[in-house]
Amino acid sequence: MTKTAPTRIATVHARRVWDSRGRPTVEAEVATEGGAFGRAIAPAGASRGANEAIDLRDGGKRFGGWDVTHAVKAVNGAIAGALTGADVSDQAAIDRALIDLDGTANKSNLGGNATVAVSMACLHAAAAAAGMPLWQYLWAGETRTRTGTPTLPLPEIQIFGGGAHAERRVDVQDFMVIATGADDYEQALAWTAEVYLAAGRIMADQGLLQGVADEGGFWPAFDTNEQAVETLVRAIEGAGLTPGDQVSISLDIAASEFGSGGKYRLARDGSELDSNALADMLLGWVLRYPIVSIEDPMGEDDPEGFIAFGKRAPETLQIVGDDLLVTNAERVCAAHRDGVVNTALIKPNQAGTMTETKAAFDAARTNGMGVIVSARSGETEDATIVHLAVGWNSLQLKVGSFARSERMVKWNEGLRIGDAIGTFALPPKSVFPWGR
Ligand code: PGA
Ligand code: ZN
Repeated sequence: MTKTAPTRIATVHARRVWDSRGRPTVEAEVATEGGAFGRAIAPAGASRGANEAIDLRDGGKRFGGWDVTHAVKAVNGAIAGALTGADVSDQAAIDRALIDLDGTANKSNLGGNATVAVSMACLHAAAAAAGMPLWQYLWAGETRTRTGTPTLPLPEIQIFGGGAHAERRVDVQDFMVIATGADDYEQALAWTAEVYLAAGRIMADQGLLQGVADEGGFWPAFDTNEQAVETLVRAIEGAGLTPGDQVSISLDIAASEFGSGGKYRLARDGSELDSNALADMLLGWVLRYPIVSIEDPMGEDDPEGFIAFGKRAPETLQIVGDDLLVTNAERVCAAHRDGVVNTALIKPNQAGTMTETKAAFDAARTNGMGVIVSARSGETEDATIVHLAVGWNSLQLKVGSFARSERMVKWNEGLRIGDAIGTFALPPKSVFPWGR
């Protein structure tokens, strides 16, 4: 009889569960012969980059075509067959097996939703087999090159949602805050809670409140995009905080959603802009408001627009690539070489495996770029990304608003990890573009 091995995979199992939009998604569970267990759930984007890993959806009428029975079957059939008996602690080999089994460039065969759930579940099982929480397992793997105590990531938190997440009530997708002056993670969350409350009060007083968007930010009835930025400044002040000093503004323009070929249609403002005029508008906001970070200021098919924007932007502005980079190491390197952005958004399900996600992360780090680990607009109770942010030392984390449990489970997990580390310390301000 063969001996049982603590890290040898005994079972891989998937089921259909439901995400924060009430849509089906894939949950995967991995158990080892030694009794270690890992579970993970695939998130889902709405404003997706064209080059992301593809979620396998059933199509047809059932649940609007969003069902995932084929992706679940892929896990319980082919993937379970390929991974049973593999060493769960060899993440690279597991992900290589998933990539080879899928055989496509965008995971469209097995589904990125199937592969990312399994890949993440394996990572959890490996940490469990090592007897460590995931953040610590990842940190321990990294300390060959680094020493010291991990810091918690600086939160980037949505207050107003728009774009594809709010029926395009405003064109800009995320109006967020970053507690740039906070002493620690606890204070960053506490300040954001006050800003979120103040924003709700202001909007209720003015009759602007309609509900909450996909990521839990208020769904505003603003007349213009700029009115949302102005209201955010007033919300920071209304919370008794100093805009720019204590709490700053971050925007995800998600420009691919309202433009292509260097032409952008801002329905809310009733204007059509070329890349240069869009840059004029955004850089005007940067001058007038305490904005420290802008994500996807141009469309994913407009790298020239990005480059021109970056040349005109102050050096202290964080310029983040999401749809353009899609958590792909080669795209990150190319964007760095061409001076397209200075920061990469990292979303595991854009890549489809943990190894590819980490490769994109490392490509950004090696090139001296900033990194933000990020959730998707469709989320669940899965809090893996918080562990990635701490264990990989991303320095920043984006998970949506300060409401709804699929968001709060992540912010709260950061508090638990801080307690376990013994400090809620944030990275030093000098590591961020606005602190240099
Ligand atoms: P998505 O949005 O998850 O719908 O793609 C998040 C983002 O654009 O950052
Ligand atoms: Zn984005």
